[in-house]
Parts: sequence; structure tokens; C-alpha cells
Amino acid sequence: MKPYPFKSLLGLKSLETDILATFLNRADQIQNGPHATPIGHAIKGKTVLTLFFEPSTRTRVSFETAIKRLGGTSVSINLETSSVKKGETLVDTIKNLDAMGFDALIVRHKNGGVPHFIDRLVDVPVINAGDGFNEHPSQGLLDLYTMQSEIGDLKHKNVLILGDILHSRVARSNLWALTKMGASVFVAGPPTLLPIGIETMGATVIPDIDRAIEFMDVINVLRIQYERQDLGYFPSIREYRHYYGLTAARLSRCKPTLKILHPGPMNRGIEIDSDVADGPHNVILNQVKNGVVMRMAILDLLLNRGTTQ
Ligand code: CP
Repeated sequence: MKPYPFKSLLGLKSLETDILATFLNRADQIQNGPHATPIGHAIKGKTVLTLFFEPSTRTRVSFETAIKRLGGTSVSINLETSSVKKGETLVDTIKNLDAMGFDALIVRHKNGGVPHFIDRLVDVPVINAGDGFNEHPSQGLLDLYTMQSEIGDLKHKNVLILGDILHSRVARSNLWALTKMGASVFVAGPPTLLPIGIETMGATVIPDIDRAIEFMDVINVLRIQYERQDLGYFPSIREYRHYYGLTAARLSRCKPTLKILHPGPMNRGIEIDSDVADGPHNVILNQVKNGVVMRMAILDLLLNRGTTQ
């Protein structure tokens, strides 16, 4: 298998298709074996620091689980009780933590570009666990892996990304990755939540989701990101649900093979109804399960660069 050629994983925008395939193949190898080396020792003796400046359930716990399953150790910092609260700068915080000798850093931050900034301060791999609206590469890769596991080759498959595209790093990582894999990518949501120029990223904007749902192979439903909105982007939750919420009625004409993803956490009854989130088309908990596998693949490829897989 081709080794991962870069020090860090900061986003999917700049990665070539063959590198995306390397992550998918490594995850598949870990999930389905056989392994050239026992996977439980792949990062034995290595210590990874998880630095979450924003809340997380899935990303943080699945990275920590992945580290444990690869035989490594994780250390996390509670930023609420750290010296960040006393006003220590990001640069000083990172330099002091780096001096302790971690083998990799996993970083989530509300501001886009922070993992890239940290990457320039340290010699060890940095993994972006979500930066502002920019990217969430491990989520993009696990979504790709889940879609491929569920429907096979993504070339010419129709994928709709639905909802709050403007504030979504998941949408951007999905878009960069899916277009490289040859999927036809569509986006839909309130016009105020569609970034200007989204078409230049390879997406086709769909004004009426009811006409589009019947030819979709996958719908990736996004959470309304209230924490990133200080303006009213749409008139009311009721109106949002009416036009863009994924309801059972809306799915009445979908393909029987349609797969529905959601990166979580979900706003049930708003962007997705419970009977859809828990219904026959959903693969949401498969995403979560695959998240651990993909994060094992990411850690293995980044921390064992230059060694045979
Ligand atoms: N999908 C995702 O990033 O979930 P968390 O915010 O729980 O990590």
C-alpha cells in the first residue's frame, strides 16, 4: 500500500484521489483483515495528545478508542481548568505541551486554520479534528468509507448534502472528497445557508429537494449549527423543517436503496425526523462504528509513515 506522504492531516482539499484511496484501503484492511502486522501494536509506545477547544462526543471518543486499539496512549487536556483560562497564548500552550514529547496532536478549534498554525509550530503530525467552517477531514474520510461500504464505487453516484452548508466543515470535507471520487454532488438548503460560489467546489445547487430525492443514492443531512449563527438565517424552525427537513413523507418516492447519513449530533424533528433517523435507510450508527476504524487507519498511516503496512 502507498505510504501517506505528508506529515499531518489538515484537510481533504489538497489530497489526491490515490491518497484518499490509501485511507479507504487501510480502513478496509483494518476492518476486514488480514493484517501484515498485528494491529493492536501498530502505535505501541506512542502517546497522542487530544486538544479539543470545542465540544465533541464522536470525534474525541473515537480517536481515543482508536489510539487504545492500536496499542498507544492518549492524553487529553481539560481546557476549562488549563492555563488557557489564565490567558496563556495558543503559541505558548502548544510549545509547552510539545516540549513534553507527544508523538502526535489531534486538534479541534472554533477558528478555521488553527490546526494548520499549530502544524507549523511542531515537528510531530497534527490531525485536524474540525476547524471552524473549514474542514473535518476524519469525518469526510469516514463518510466516504461508509458510503463506499454501503453502495460500492462512488463514481457517478448521486449524493445530496442537505442543510446548513454555510457553517459546515463536514460539508466542505465531503465535497472535496466526493468530487475526487467521481460522485455527482448536490447541495440543498436555505439560500442564506449556501456559501456564495459553492458551484466552484463542484456542487450542483438543488432548489427543490422533493423533485431531487427520487434520484439520490445518498443523502448526508447536516445539523443546523446554532452555535455558529448570530443572525437569523431563516424565518423559523417550522419553516426550515417544512422546506428542508428530512421527513418520512419526503422519502416516499426515494430509491429503496437510498442511504441516509448524519454526522451528528442530530437536531431530531428539525433537520431530520426520528422515524427517518431510526428508519430503514439510515446508516448513522454505521458511520460512528466506521469512525473508529477510519481513525485507526489515519493514526496508523500518519504515525508509521515510511514503514511497511
Ligand atoms: N461529527 C462530529 O464531529 O461529532 P462530534 O462533534 O460529537 O465530535
